Amino acid sequence: MSQQSKLSVRDIDVHGKRVLVRVDFNVPVDDHLCITDDTRISESLPTLELLRKNEARLILLAHFGRPKGKVVEKYSLKPVFERLRTLIGGNVSFSPNCVGPAAEAATHALQDGDILLMENVRFHAEEEANDPAFAAQLAKLGDLYVNDAFGAAHRAHASTEGVTRYFPQAAMGLLLEKEIKYLQGELENPRKPFLVILGGSKVSDKIGVIKALMEKADIFLIGGAMAYTFLKAQGIEVANSRVEEDKLDLARELLNLAASKGLKFLLPIDCIETQEIKSAATWNNTQPFPPGKGVTASWMGVDIGIKTRALYSAEIAQAATILWNGPVGVFEIAEFSGGTRALAEAIAANSSATSIIGGGDSVTAVKQFGLANKMTFISTGGGASLELLEGRVLPGIAALTNKK
Ligand code: 3PG
Repeated sequence: MSQQSKLSVRDIDVHGKRVLVRVDFNVPVDDHLCITDDTRISESLPTLELLRKNEARLILLAHFGRPKGKVVEKYSLKPVFERLRTLIGGNVSFSPNCVGPAAEAATHALQDGDILLMENVRFHAEEEANDPAFAAQLAKLGDLYVNDAFGAAHRAHASTEGVTRYFPQAAMGLLLEKEIKYLQGELENPRKPFLVILGGSKVSDKIGVIKALMEKADIFLIGGAMAYTFLKAQGIEVANSRVEEDKLDLARELLNLAASKGLKFLLPIDCIETQEIKSAATWNNTQPFPPGKGVTASWMGVDIGIKTRALYSAEIAQAATILWNGPVGVFEIAEFSGGTRALAEAIAANSSATSIIGGGDSVTAVKQFGLANKMTFISTGGGASLELLEGRVLPGIAALTNKK
C-alpha cells in the first residue's frame, strides 16, 4: 500500500469535533531553553489553521527530547506552548498532563477553534512502549485523530501508532502529506538527471539509502566524513581523517554496485585538511588526489576542496532533480563550511531543478546560509526522512486509515 493513499485531514468532517492532532514539536533549544529554530512549529500551522477554519476543537499531542518516561522539567513543552501561542495569536491553552480526568475534562471545555497543547507524552514510559492502555487513554482526548508529526512517523509509539486503533478515522495532516509527496511521490519517477548528494559522518547510516536510491538516481556526489571511508577503500591516503575501518569492504561493494549499474558515483578529488577541528585552525587545500597519496600525514580531511566544489557544482547545474542529505564538511565551523555552502549555492542557482533537502544537518546548513527559500522542499524529518528514502514503511503512516 502506497503511503500516499491515506485519508487526509481535508477528507474528514471535523466541524464541532475534538480532533486529536499528533505534531512533532521536538525543536532545538539553547542552554536557556530558548527555541533556536521553530520550523517544526510553523510547519504545523497549515494543518492547525485548516482545522480551526473548519470549526474543530484541537488537542495537540507532542514529545520533546528523550525524558525516558520521567517528568523532567527541561523537557517540558511549556516553551513550545509560549511560541505556539505567539504564532497562533490566542486561543491556545496548556494541559500539564496528557492523560487523566483533568486532561479529558479540559478537552470537553474547548470551544470551536480552540487549541489545547498537552504536556510531553514521553513523560510517561508507556508512550515509547506503545502501551495499549495508555493509547486508549490518549484516545479519550478526541473524537478524530490526525497525524502531522512526520519527524516522529518512524516511531511506533502510543501517540503515533497505538492510538489510531481507537478511532474510526485516522487521517494525515497537511505537513505529513507534503513530506510524503516530496520524499516519496516526487522521487518515484523523478525528472532526469536525478542527482543525489550524500554527506554526513557514517557510511553505515546511509547504506539503506544508497542502495535504495541506486535504483532511481543517475549521479551520486559523496562528501562529509563518510567520503574518507570510500577514498581509503580506493587506496587514497586519508591520514587521520575519520574512517570506518570495518566498512571498507562495504564501501568497495557499493562502488562496484554503482559501476555495474553504470551510475556516476563521484568521490572528492581534493579536500580541505587540518590538524584540529576548531575555529581559526590552520588548514590547507590538498593537491588533487593521486592514487596512493592524498591527505598529509597526521592531518585530516574536513571539507571538500576547491576542485571538488567545481566538479560537483557543474553536475548540480545539469540536474533536473536534486536530493541532498548530509553536509559535505564541518559546516558549523566557518573555515570548513565552504564546500557545503558552495553546493547549497549551486542548488539555489539551478532554479529549474526540483530540489529536496532531506532532513537533519543539511537543513540546518541551508538555513544557516540563508538559502532555504531557494529550495523546492525542505523536510522536517531527520531519521524519518532517511527511513522513507530507504523505502521503509513508517509505522505512524501505515497505521492511518486508507483512502477509499
Ligand atoms: C526527531 O527529532 O528526529 C523526531 O522528533 C524524533 O525524535 P526521536 O529521535 O527522539 O524519536
